Amino acid sequence: MHSLPTAGESADGVLSRLNELKKSDGVVEVAYLWKNALDPTAYPSLGRFERDVTAIAASHLRGDAVGSFTSGGTESLMLAVKTMRDWARAEKGISRPNFVMPVTAHPAFMKASHYLDVEVRRVPVDQNLRADVPAIEAAIDDSTAMLVGSSPGYSFGVIDPIPEIAALAASRGLLCHVDACIGGWLLPLFRELGADVPPFDFEVDGVTSISVDFHKYALCAKGASCLLFRDPALRRYQFFSFVGWPGYVLLNSTIQSTKSGGPLASAWAVLHHIGHDGYLEIARHIYDATQAIVEEVHGIDGARVVAEPDASLIAVATDVDAFAVSDAMGRRGWRHFPQLSYEDLPRSIHLTVLPGNVERVGEWAAALRESIDEVAAAPEPTGLAAVKSAVKSMDLDSLSFDQLDQLLDMAGIDPLADSDGPSMAEMNDLLDSLPPAVCAKVLTLFLDRMTRPSQS
Ligand SMILES: Cc1ncc(COP(=O)(O)O)c(C=O)c1O
Repeated sequence: MHSLPTAGESADGVLSRLNELKKSDGVVEVAYLWKNALDPTAYPSLGRFERDVTAIAASHLRGDAVGSFTSGGTESLMLAVKTMRDWARAEKGISRPNFVMPVTAHPAFMKASHYLDVEVRRVPVDQNLRADVPAIEAAIDDSTAMLVGSSPGYSFGVIDPIPEIAALAASRGLLCHVDACIGGWLLPLFRELGADVPPFDFEVDGVTSISVDFHKYALCAKGASCLLFRDPALRRYQFFSFVGWPGYVLLNSTIQSTKSGGPLASAWAVLHHIGHDGYLEIARHIYDATQAIVEEVHGIDGARVVAEPDASLIAVATDVDAFAVSDAMGRRGWRHFPQLSYEDLPRSIHLTVLPGNVERVGEWAAALRESIDEVAAAPEPTGLAAVKSAVKSMDLDSLSFDQLDQLLDMAGIDPLADSDGPSMAEMNDLLDSLPPAVCAKVLTLFLDRMTRPSQS
């Protein structure tokens, strides 16, 4: 399976320095894997690593900020929402605060809303797929405590108008969180390379917190992100402590309590090993590859980028079914995340451009051309036709989990079966035809099936 330059696993084998890095990173990670990062007084080196990596991230984002190391973008965003909730209760007297974000913000915010029982108000994006600031403003009420923008959003790779969102937040005394989980490491490097990167970091007045993941474009091992706050006083609401029991003093900065020191130690090692010059070189490869891919797509009949990307994420829509194209690309060794349609936005395939392999962009584009031709010439798949037509006549919203489970049986969807079931394209097509809430239930059932103990 080719891993580059599109959505793939890692940068292995791309730059020789990364190969070298993998070894040293691995050594550090293993050394700390069994150490408990619960208590930085027990392992002072882990406390030092955390202070170092968050300071590096803060200076990368041009801020004199404080931060915490977390296990990933989702945890960083959940903590941003928890901080907002507790700040609003304590300092604004809002018992049930809400926050406002564009529909393109990452679903980790929905998860935070769900887990923390905090209302989220989602507003449409403008015609360029960026946050619509007047729509955000219209959604604010007396209980609103935070506005959110992404830099960039995952789906289409465009950056929300952060200065406008932050100015609106500041004018109303609200927090402003920038989700730079996927772009926050790369974009400052793109700027340094001369790209026109819209402002999004702590240089922007009114931005109160930023999340940035080390395990994405800083190429660290998985389990590495951070949440930064401009004002240390705000971060105190992120923490949790409890002593009202007969056991140890519980004092946590993150959701996890006992946690491996491995990801933090290896992130520290990777950041120092690659260093600024190394990251700049990697960013140049990614930038060049992104531009080259976009140019190739512009030249392919029946394909288009959904938005001109601001960073290194690209959504490609196709005249023929994008899900079938995704499968056809997979057969050629290129794996992409298919993205479901959303209101009037089309289905697409998603590319996360990784370093190197810029010379393989032509090969990728040839595979896309062939895939589009193959899908155009192929008959419509009919494997799930009966299920799709049955679904049309059902009142889906009223179906219970058990009834939906029967639907999966009817569709022959068994994630653990060896025999060929419906293709991914057909399954995605079925999912895309369901109302989002029903689709979410079906996916829950799918995961339930996938994670049951095997019978043999
Ligand atoms: C913009 C953005 N925010 C948050 C996340 C969630 O990050 P994680 O998968 O590390 O939890 C992602 C993941 O791709 C993302 O792209």
